[in-house]
Amino acid sequence: MITSTETLPTSQINKVIPLLEKNYGNNLDSDYTEKIQELDRNFKYTSNSNAYWSEPEHSLLYGTPLYEQASLSQKLALNHLHWVLFYKRVADSETELIHYNTITADCLMAANSEYKMLVELLAHETSQERHHIHAFSLVNYKTTKALLGKKALINPVSDEVSVREQKRVQSSNYLSSAANLIAMFMLKSKKPSETENSRDGKEAKSQVSFPTNGFFNGFSGKSTQPRRQFFSDNWGSYPFLAANFYAVRYMANLGLKNHEFGLHTYYKKLQKNNEFIASPTAISHYHFLDEAFHTTTSLFLGRDFHKYLPKPSRYEKWIANLAILQAQHENLNAISGISTNRFLSDGDAIIFLMKLLQSPVFDMSAQEAMQWIEKCLCQEHQGFHVNLKVHNHLLSDLRKFAKQLDYLWPVNRNMSVMASGGSIKKSIQNNIKAFNEFAHNYALKENTDSGN
Ligand SMILES: [Fe+2]
Ligand SMILES: [Fe+2]
Repeated sequence: MITSTETLPTSQINKVIPLLEKNYGNNLDSDYTEKIQELDRNFKYTSNSNAYWSEPEHSLLYGTPLYEQASLSQKLALNHLHWVLFYKRVADSETELIHYNTITADCLMAANSEYKMLVELLAHETSQERHHIHAFSLVNYKTTKALLGKKALINPVSDEVSVREQKRVQSSNYLSSAANLIAMFMLKSKKPSETENSRDGKEAKSQVSFPTNGFFNGFSGKSTQPRRQFFSDNWGSYPFLAANFYAVRYMANLGLKNHEFGLHTYYKKLQKNNEFIASPTAISHYHFLDEAFHTTTSLFLGRDFHKYLPKPSRYEKWIANLAILQAQHENLNAISGISTNRFLSDGDAIIFLMKLLQSPVFDMSAQEAMQWIEKCLCQEHQGFHVNLKVHNHLLSDLRKFAKQLDYLWPVNRNMSVMASGGSIKKSIQNNIKAFNEFAHNYALKENTDSGN
């Protein structure tokens, strides 16, 4: 059984606890979640369809040749779909968090009963995430249905989940190979953990039964990949690694803040000018404020908490580094030409773009759609440069954080995977490869279909 090697002395004073208590109190005193619930209850797409939900820069395909010649109604649709895609990923990340918040709280509480407050704090954050997820999903459902039609809801805006999933399974890079190998080895001797202390904990330990594509996507969902089970078991069993999970969560918080701050500023600008504020803009604004509490929790737990725990073993340090390395690989490995805040290959989004360009928004033939996709993904344009600027801002924030963790390997301290992904040239080359592969498979399928 995987278990903590040492039990913490209850007399040990953890100086982070009072700071977390204060943050928890501030969160309890706020009413941002209630505001989100109200906006969620009353959301109608038609009441919000004529307004931008964020600055035009935060629109899908912004800076591409297609965006330049799009009509106003198409530009509005691209602006709304950018919101949808961003919050689809946020909702997925938060679905994954519900699992990890619970198992890590459980682990820390089992190590030291003085950490009981953490269980309550994280349960409160978890319940807030449930309301956030509900609001995002409802706006996404209604918006996708209105813009792309009912057909798009059969596999809504998430075709890239299956593309990325396939790649992950096929992936043979050193990271997944190493982690899979260790995971298989560890799982062979795995017995049920005895650290869980609540019904919630038991529920959380059973994996989420649908695939998610969030920041912790390597770590959640029912999957045959032992890697996911492996990280889950480690974060939920060693206090040092439970705290390390919050370092990864802080990386996700920074990624969210890097984009959502712009939405919050946009809300403030409209409010100051007494202009109409679309409900999704208001949801983003209140979510930004709610998440500030979560970000503070992640920072104290991820950066400082481990200093009050027994020294980690070499194994624990190794797993902690592997987790951060994986977070870079899975979320921050490229530059995008189609979205300002996306740091993954655009190749994964081709299927969705085909759906979008053939939907009533653009009404293109398959051939036209493919020509435009090639122009947007495989040639340099302003969109890539806007993304690179946002990428570099996030990279600098992540490095500032990573420098404060003394147990990190240089590749994590310098965020080297993310840094090396920040190349327009490399990203376009990867897009060309993915596009050619897609076009080849598409032509094969067309030939087969016409032959039948
Ligand atoms: Fe949230
Ligand atoms: Fe959160």
